[in-house]
Amino acid sequence: MRAKAADMHSKDCVKVAVRVRPFNKRERDAGSRCIVSMVSSSITIQDPRESQSRRSFCFDYAYWSHSGFTRDRGGLYVPEEPGGRYADQDSVFQDLGEGILENALQGYNATLLAYGQTGSGKSYSMVGYGPNKGLVPKLCDRLFQSIRENQDTRQCQVFFSMLEIYNEQVVDLLSRGTRTPGGLRVREEQQRGFYVEGLRTIPCDNAVQVEQLMEQGTRTRTTAATHMNANSSRSHMLIILQLKQIFSKESITKQSNINLVDLAGSERQRSSGSEADRLKEGTAINLSLTTLGNVISSLADVAVGKKVVHIPYRDSVLTKLLQSALGGNSRTVMIATLSPADICYEESLSTLRYAERAKRIQNRAVVNESPTERLVKELKAENARLLQRLGRLGQEGRRANDETKELRQLLTHNELQIRAIQTLWEQHLQEALKDWEQQYANITQERRMMQMHPYILNINEDAQLSGVVKLFIQEGEWDIGLCDSTPKYISIKGLGIQERHAVFRNEQRRVTLTPLEGSKVIVNGNTVSQTTELQHLDRLILGSNCTYLFIGFPSERGGDDWSRYDYDYFQSELAAAEGIHLVESSTGSSQTDPSLLAVFYDYIKLMPMVAEANQMSQELNKGVEFKLEIKNLALSDSKGHDLKKEIVVRVTAVGRKQVWMWSKTKFVNRKFLMEDAYQRHQAERSRDNIAEGLSTAALPRDKDPFWDPVEPLLLGTAHLWLQSLAFRIPLEEQLEVLGSEGTEEAILQAQLVPCTSTGLALGEDEILIDPTELLGRRLDFQLFLEQCCGLRWIREARNRGVQIGFRLFDCSHPLYSPAVWHNVNPLLDHRVHFASLHTSQHLLDYLQSSAVVLELWGLQEGCTDLVSSLEGADPVNTAPVDSAELSCSVRALQQDLEELKSVNSSLRKENHILREQLNAARNDGVRGRSVRPSCDAEFARALKVFYHSMTSVRGQLQRLRRHRPSEESDLLGFRLFVDEQSRMLRDFSEQLEQSVSTLKQDVAAIVRRKRERSGIWS
Ligand SMILES: Nc1ncnc2c1ncn2[C@@H]1O[C@H](COP(=O)(O)OP(=O)(O)OP(=O)(O)O)[C@@H](O)[C@H]1O
Ligand SMILES: [Mg+2]
Repeated sequence: MRAKAADMHSKDCVKVAVRVRPFNKRERDAGSRCIVSMVSSSITIQDPRESQSRRSFCFDYAYWSHSGFTRDRGGLYVPEEPGGRYADQDSVFQDLGEGILENALQGYNATLLAYGQTGSGKSYSMVGYGPNKGLVPKLCDRLFQSIRENQDTRQCQVFFSMLEIYNEQVVDLLSRGTRTPGGLRVREEQQRGFYVEGLRTIPCDNAVQVEQLMEQGTRTRTTAATHMNANSSRSHMLIILQLKQIFSKESITKQSNINLVDLAGSERQRSSGSEADRLKEGTAINLSLTTLGNVISSLADVAVGKKVVHIPYRDSVLTKLLQSALGGNSRTVMIATLSPADICYEESLSTLRYAERAKRIQNRAVVNESPTERLVKELKAENARLLQRLGRLGQEGRRANDETKELRQLLTHNELQIRAIQTLWEQHLQEALKDWEQQYANITQERRMMQMHPYILNINEDAQLSGVVKLFIQEGEWDIGLCDSTPKYISIKGLGIQERHAVFRNEQRRVTLTPLEGSKVIVNGNTVSQTTELQHLDRLILGSNCTYLFIGFPSERGGDDWSRYDYDYFQSELAAAEGIHLVESSTGSSQTDPSLLAVFYDYIKLMPMVAEANQMSQELNKGVEFKLEIKNLALSDSKGHDLKKEIVVRVTAVGRKQVWMWSKTKFVNRKFLMEDAYQRHQAERSRDNIAEGLSTAALPRDKDPFWDPVEPLLLGTAHLWLQSLAFRIPLEEQLEVLGSEGTEEAILQAQLVPCTSTGLALGEDEILIDPTELLGRRLDFQLFLEQCCGLRWIREARNRGVQIGFRLFDCSHPLYSPAVWHNVNPLLDHRVHFASLHTSQHLLDYLQSSAVVLELWGLQEGCTDLVSSLEGADPVNTAPVDSAELSCSVRALQQDLEELKSVNSSLRKENHILREQLNAARNDGVRGRSVRPSCDAEFARALKVFYHSMTSVRGQLQRLRRHRPSEESDLLGFRLFVDEQSRMLRDFSEQLEQSVSTLKQDVAAIVRRKRERSGIWS
């Protein structure tokens, strides 16, 4: 389906198209729902959590590429039936590409931007995959076709450039030389505006040549990504086509720039900025994209008449280069790509909002008059003048002979200059052609090699960069590594790759791989240390994260589809080897719980990044180790629900035994800064030849991405259920404190003691049968933290301490027990008194259904203790009163007093009314009612006895649960343990039996008495 809302050339507003791609594997695995619909050029997105919440947007074009397609024999995606709604690459080109081309041919600058979340189809639309060519190659095809068709009327010159902006540095993707440290400079000239100094512009005269250059650019991008360990999805790719048209008859020249921009994945822009980190520079991860958003917003404001003082073009490299494309001299189109899956809702909605803003931008495009045109025009005009003068001079006779000669010379000079301008282009073209022939020969050679030898093929996180590098394993023995000096070597670069990393042997039609000492080699997810024979389609990971697919001998290759071995496949395999699998849901359906799926994909996304961070830490001598952990959020939920899981990164300073926990976002941010530091270190090292690990020591601590000030660390949590408080029954528990991965961090002995307002424990008689009796009344209880036993945190390093933190009801600030240090089994002896002056239904519900989450905080040398803050606590409803907090107690007591006064007066009134009612009842002679209350009282008493005995049964059960054989037990030890266990079990069951039978007897006796009294006999 392609819908056209307005003629593309009527105004210079930025045209916006939206394209929806098919589900990818992750989305299919998650059983995703499609939440996007399209009618004509309007698009509606539905909030997956709220079916009523929908947002509609209208754009210039809307492309449905989600469904209704089939793959034809040539691998082309086409509509299932002719005229179907599926928008294929051709139809997108017809609208957007043709428009761009037409504008360029008319002499306007034209820009095409692709914006969207990572993996949403930007590169698919711009560049394309295999036979499904995207806008850029199609545009070049049509451009050269048009040039050929019009060669009688105009002479055309096309120059091609390709660059990448990564971390605010410009990299020339067509440059042959070594990379300029810090990237190419962006300069500004009054006439030209911003431009990249020294960028290669290559003359082209056919589409195949352009495609070849694009391939070369992609190859440079791929190697740069692996060498510098950078993530291509975070970089912007720009292709600049300069078109010069010389209309000799009209003696005019038109010049236009076509900017084709494949932007970095948009989601990073948000995720990097969303969380506070000490090192905020991390947000520079995508300064260019953030600035582009700001520029677009400002321009959109301008368009609706708002006063905008400053448009921040100069804040980033990308916006400098796109200045004329946005709010300037260009006809601009943006294609916003999105996934229609429910799990991408937030990102897709944000893309649509972004696109909506871009739609408002108005440009003022003009046909460009180039300096060449003026020069030729001026020269021609000068020639005409000269000729005229010559004619006149001829008539004036011999006197003018000398002057004529001089003028003729000038004329010839000018003609030569005109011709020089025209031949220069041809010369350039010849040079480019030679270059290109060389390239072409390389490609033909590569194709031949592919048919002869086994090879390894690079696999990149960005599908666009996968399969670009092929390294052939010819017969014999080949070293692979950084080396380029051994007799037979395959040179690769990347994190954790050694000089000589491993050896490939291709002998007797078998290929083996032998890792060399100290090098990391993983085959099909498993680390190998010995010679391993490789099979066709084996997956290799060399160093920390250089991923390759092994392609066997031509005879072994069937018609198999290699595309399933993508980056995710490699990482999932690695995760599986670590024991992290995607488990199918217990309901037996093939669908996996989406939240689990999200955690799994987070895990496999972070896994290679963690490996890289570890490698960088090692090379820079940082002494810091990173490890992925899956945190169970249920541990800190007061209802104990199995809410969600999330990935965190445990950071350990090995020598100092300090530990930090970083969130996923913080780690991603820091990883970017680490890469930056690492690259600077590498550059310094290659320049000054300094010893490993020395230079970045110079990085000040507060700028060091590997360092953070030590902080208390949440080690684990335990749930102390509050239900007994609703019945005013005391509770004594030995709680297991569980770490985020389910490890036992400690045993915590804690009590909940219902008490009077002065802190005296309530007796059995105060036990309630019906908790609603508490409503409107005062409730006091104490939380007593007795002792912590078996602290793993302290066992690991004695110079550490712990604190217990907790939060109750609607008290927004946590409270902490005082710190205890250096002791594996410290006595806490911490008592906190809580009082609620008015028990509300809300509080009662809370007591009956929630737990107080006791957090075990680990303290490390150099970090400050956690302190309780009582500010903000609601003193009327629940006033936590720490015995240490005297002022708070006084405040609570004063309020108490006030409260009691008013309660007293209302009780008096109530008393009075009750007395009157009683008198009236007596007079009425109502009888028999006394039986029931007395019976209820008996029941209550029996139940209290039962509850009480249950508390002790429960304690027995806790002891039984904790009872474990000692780790060093031998057979005899085990026997003793089993005997002891049996004895405890016997005691437990006897106590239980006895409690139940007492209750039964009591109840039977009450029922019997009741019947006797009411005179009913069975
Ligand atoms: N319209 C489409 N039809 C079929 N497949 C598509 C379409 N759009 C995208 N894809 C597939 O989705 C995958 C991701 O697309 P692509 O590489 O274009 O994403 P991207 O937006 O460029 O991501 P990144 O920001 O990581 O570069 C590719 O395998 C591509 O083939
Ligand atoms: Mg891409």
